[in-house]
Amino acid sequence: MAQRRYHLWTIGCQMNRADSYRVGEELEKRGYAPTHRPELADIVVLNTCVVRQRAEDKVRGRLSSLSSLKRTNRHVALVVMGCFVDDVEALQASYPYVDAFLKPSDVAGVADFAENLNSPVALQTSSGDFATPSRVADLVPISYGCDHRCTYCIVAPRRGRQRSRPLSEIMDDAESLVRRGTRQITLLGQNVDAYGSDLEGQPDLADVLSALHDLDGLWRIRFLTSHPRDMSQRIIDAVAGLPKVCECWELAVQAGDDAILRRMGRGYTVDHFRELVARIRQATPHCAINTDIIVGFPGETRKQFENTLRLVRQMRFDVAHVAAYSPRPGTPAAGWIDDVTPEEKEYRRALVEQVQKEIATEINATQLGELVEILVDGHQRGRWRGRTRTNKLVFFESKDDWLGKMARVRITWTGPWSMIADRPAIPHPVPSLRGECYRIWLGAGAHRRRSRHSRGDASLHPQGQPSKRAFTS
Ligand code: SAM
Ligand code: F3S
Repeated sequence: MAQRRYHLWTIGCQMNRADSYRVGEELEKRGYAPTHRPELADIVVLNTCVVRQRAEDKVRGRLSSLSSLKRTNRHVALVVMGCFVDDVEALQASYPYVDAFLKPSDVAGVADFAENLNSPVALQTSSGDFATPSRVADLVPISYGCDHRCTYCIVAPRRGRQRSRPLSEIMDDAESLVRRGTRQITLLGQNVDAYGSDLEGQPDLADVLSALHDLDGLWRIRFLTSHPRDMSQRIIDAVAGLPKVCECWELAVQAGDDAILRRMGRGYTVDHFRELVARIRQATPHCAINTDIIVGFPGETRKQFENTLRLVRQMRFDVAHVAAYSPRPGTPAAGWIDDVTPEEKEYRRALVEQVQKEIATEINATQLGELVEILVDGHQRGRWRGRTRTNKLVFFESKDDWLGKMARVRITWTGPWSMIADRPAIPHPVPSLRGECYRIWLGAGAHRRRSRHSRGDASLHPQGQPSKRAFTS
């Protein structure tokens, strides 16, 4: 009997990526094998995004192209999930050939749907021998939805109010991943730093970081995305005090002008953001700070845009994801005149990107000749690929198997988006013991104390001895 196959198509944020991993796992547990070719699949799942018009256009294009697949093979099941799914009745009327529309993150819904499909199946797993392949770096959602209502954003209304997962559930997920060989966990939330405000007793992100930190076999912890308004000193202190937590901050500023921030409904001022960044850099001096920026918001004047550009120059972000404002039907801002022309939006977007590219080039160039520690998470075009603690992408060549191992490498070339390193200095990979991986990090890091401006080896902890500080709020 032929094996059932699934085809999974994903666009959008890390949350969608995390959901799609889980969808794949659930389908494989039920005897499905993945295929890149939708025409060979028994079930096709689209995990969608509508954060900007361009993403929505891609989803609609993909849906249209799948209608012919459905005509030629009426046995294929088509499932659509993610932020595209809003008014299910209206969607069913527009896309009658879709078998199921499921809300964002409804992984269980896809699993149930697949279970009930009655096409022929050769179950591999009835004997319980299913083993999900491990990923060196994996994603764990800790909260769904968002309690903010930024005036431009469709994601919050589509995903609903914030729902934090209980700490015990997060730990169960993390423990099972680590047992399977995962070395790095990235905690996800639309506003990951607001975690727990909806739970009894109000645990926070610092509590999650601290609990995860005790997991043997887990080497690195990351988290994204943070909202400036939700970031507390307690979280900053936790990142500074817990050595496994990487000092890489994803802190979305969106604009560098107070009037625009107010109309975006962001709930902070530029001065508040500056002060927050100063505290973060004081607590974690060699950190990376990445951000999101929207240009061309309704009513944004040239002068207001230049305030954003000035902030980018002053803050010297490591990465800035820059987007041209895209009106989203149903949001408050969509009712305002979209008065910045597409050409002007593109000009502003390209200008911020150009400035940011120069900054990233300079920051990365300070790493030339430095010894950095990277977690190797893949092999790409004949080279190993890994990330520093600050999430800088590093490539190196080696005939040895480095997957899932920590490598100490010397940087020989830097560019704005990646770096190249020599073959790893140590012949044997670091064993998967927490103490071992720290020793390397501490040995090299203890004598390095550089200022933010010199941008020394960001992958090495500046404070020497890792300490578990008492958190203060
Ligand atoms: N938690 C994050 C924060 O504090 O802002 C936001 C997550 S949001 C879903 C992801 C990114 O999409 C935003 O940071 C924003 O830059 C971008 N985005 C959202 N709505 C947009 C719109 N209407 N036009 C352009 N970009 C948008
Ligand atoms: Fe959207 Fe603002 Fe929440 S950008 S996801 S409403 S923080």
